[in-house]
Amino acid sequence: MFRLSFALLAAALVNFSQAQNESEIESAVRFLFPDSYCCTVLTLSPVAKHVAFPGQSLYNTSVDSYFDVKSKLTPNCIVQPTSAEEVATTVKVLTAASLLKPCKFAVRSGGHTPIPGSNDIEDGVTIDLQHMNSTTYNAHTQVASIGPGGRWAGVYSTLEPLGRMVAGGRGSTVGVGGYLIGGGISHFAPRVGLSCDNVVNFQVVLASGRIVNANKNTNADLFTALKVNYILEVKKTFENENLWGGIVTYPASTADQHFKSFVDFGLDPNRDPNAALIVFQGYSTASPTNVVRAAFDYTKPVARPDAYKEFYAITNNISDTTKIQPMSAVAAEFGSTTTSRVQFRTLSFKLDLATLQETARLYEIMLAEIQAKASGSWRISCLHQVWSTLYTANSTARGGNVLGMERYTENFDMYQSYLSWSEAKDDELFINQGLALTNGIQKFTEEHDTAVEYLYLNYADKDQDPLSAYGADKVAFMKKVAKKYDPLGIYQRLLPGGFRISNV
Ligand SMILES: Cc1cc2nc3c(=O)[nH]c(=O)nc-3n(C[C@H](O)[C@H](O)[C@H](O)COP(=O)(O)OP(=O)(O)OC[C@H]3O[C@@H](n4cnc5c(N)ncnc54)[C@H](O)[C@@H]3O)c2cc1C
Ligand SMILES: *[C@@H]1O[C@H](CO)[C@@H](O)[C@H](O)[C@H]1NC(C)=O
Ligand SMILES: *[C@@H]1O[C@H](CO)[C@@H](O)[C@H](O)[C@H]1NC(C)=O
Ligand SMILES: *[C@@H]1O[C@H](CO)[C@@H](O)[C@H](O)[C@H]1NC(C)=O
Ligand SMILES: *[C@@H]1O[C@H](CO)[C@@H](O)[C@H](O)[C@H]1NC(C)=O
Ligand SMILES: *[C@@H]1O[C@H](CO)[C@@H](O)[C@H](O)[C@H]1NC(C)=O
Repeated sequence: MFRLSFALLAAALVNFSQAQNESEIESAVRFLFPDSYCCTVLTLSPVAKHVAFPGQSLYNTSVDSYFDVKSKLTPNCIVQPTSAEEVATTVKVLTAASLLKPCKFAVRSGGHTPIPGSNDIEDGVTIDLQHMNSTTYNAHTQVASIGPGGRWAGVYSTLEPLGRMVAGGRGSTVGVGGYLIGGGISHFAPRVGLSCDNVVNFQVVLASGRIVNANKNTNADLFTALKVNYILEVKKTFENENLWGGIVTYPASTADQHFKSFVDFGLDPNRDPNAALIVFQGYSTASPTNVVRAAFDYTKPVARPDAYKEFYAITNNISDTTKIQPMSAVAAEFGSTTTSRVQFRTLSFKLDLATLQETARLYEIMLAEIQAKASGSWRISCLHQVWSTLYTANSTARGGNVLGMERYTENFDMYQSYLSWSEAKDDELFINQGLALTNGIQKFTEEHDTAVEYLYLNYADKDQDPLSAYGADKVAFMKKVAKKYDPLGIYQRLLPGGFRISNV
């Protein structure tokens, strides 16, 4: 098992309706604290030594480490706590200070979500968990304690020498915290389930500043809701073995053959649970050929396993990086840091060949449009993954999650469009093209009855509503849990970024 202690941020007791005249208070606060009231209060608190201001090198390093350049904002200050206790102190200080003037804040772990304002804040305080990145392993319980601010590269390089592994991100640079909140799809998912279901304990900082554990026996409702909500996690480990994995690149003309093989793979009732697969169409200015790629990742050290047999019949590949290698090396190939602007969008639909072909038709239209209009360097990837019922097969026995997967008895295609570009002046072009693509696919799936309601939170865009897509019963449950553990709705009010249950 994977044991993860997570620190969730909790609630204090603020009643703004009691404030006499807010604009009068605001101007008084501004007069007393011309820089930033909330940041000044933090500098008078026990976390003062971890507060960084614009112009300082720690501040620069933090804002420069966002995956998506347009998500890099200019918070009034950044707090970098080193323990759950310091996260709790930060939350208590900000909520107490909010009695006078709301101290809005953001939380970030790896900073990989490409939605500006989800993991950063323009006029407020960013709590950056990057220093809480330790991974420790308990050989007796076979559980690893993983800090929320870690990247998966660090987790794998710590566990591999100990002969252990956990189900984590496929890319080395992805953060632990945000990844687990969305559920977490790893190469091991068909074998061991979603990453969030491998967590045995979350350490949570409540809005009151109290630190609690959430697991199957203690605060069990919070434990279930956090799988897709939140901070320090403890994950169950399993034996480490090398994988056979890599990326094979083919000419664009093989798209149809790939889609047919993908549908067969996805619908195979006897699918080998060691076999993970991503099929994607792509183009980049760095390597200007329209291609189809297949990422084969088999979680046992077996070269060319039969699970991908149908794909081996597509013989005209351009390059092939598959080999037997450790998870850390597989993750390094998938890992990327960007200096680009990024958009992710997601949709789900049935494993239906005509629908996949329609995604390819719309991809070609988008590619032509972008080629005609974009400047600088850019890249497009449109990814197909099988969402397998195996991912959540044993979820309930492990405390359940809020993804609402019980509704689905058939595997489906979880689609992601991933656009990245260098020029700010092209923001509108790429954002609109990505939107037109997923709108076009959605229209087709609705007309052909191949739509699947589910939206994977980790790939969702700002205007998408993944929490509603978990189903009305899960929304009601999350609202109830949020109210129980944060009765005053402090996190819902002071933490504006990300997908909030109060917005559903
Ligand atoms: C190159 C790349 C590869 C990827 N590969 C995969 C993959 O294999 N599988 C997969 O499932 N997803 C994958 N993703 C998606 C990824 O899981 C999400 O982008 C995820 O949000 C990243 O986590 P983070 O900690 O870096 O995010 P951040 O941007 O730091 O956080 C995301 C959100 O979670 C909140 N949050 C983060 N940490 C905490 C915390 N400790 N407590 C409370 N709230 C918190 C933030 O406020 C923010 O709203 C990938 C993304 C990229 C860019
Ligand atoms: C608050 O005070 C300002 C300035 O004194 C005034 O213009 C405004 O009308 C007041 N607002 C309320 C809601 O009383
Ligand atoms: C931080 O970045 C700002 C703006 O780019 C720059 O003016 C400043 O010199 C940097 N500070 C340090 C310590 O590097
Ligand atoms: C934790 O972060 C520090 C500072 O960024 C880094 O030097 C270290 O390698 C990281 N450790 C792990 C295990 O990722
Ligand atoms: C689910 O549980 C069964 C029975 O214990 C086990 O054989 C199987 O591997 C588990 N599957 C996942 C995905 O955890
Ligand atoms: C890719 O092509 C090379 C050269 O023909 C071949 O050896 C390799 O097996 C192919 N890879 C796959 C996955 O089919």
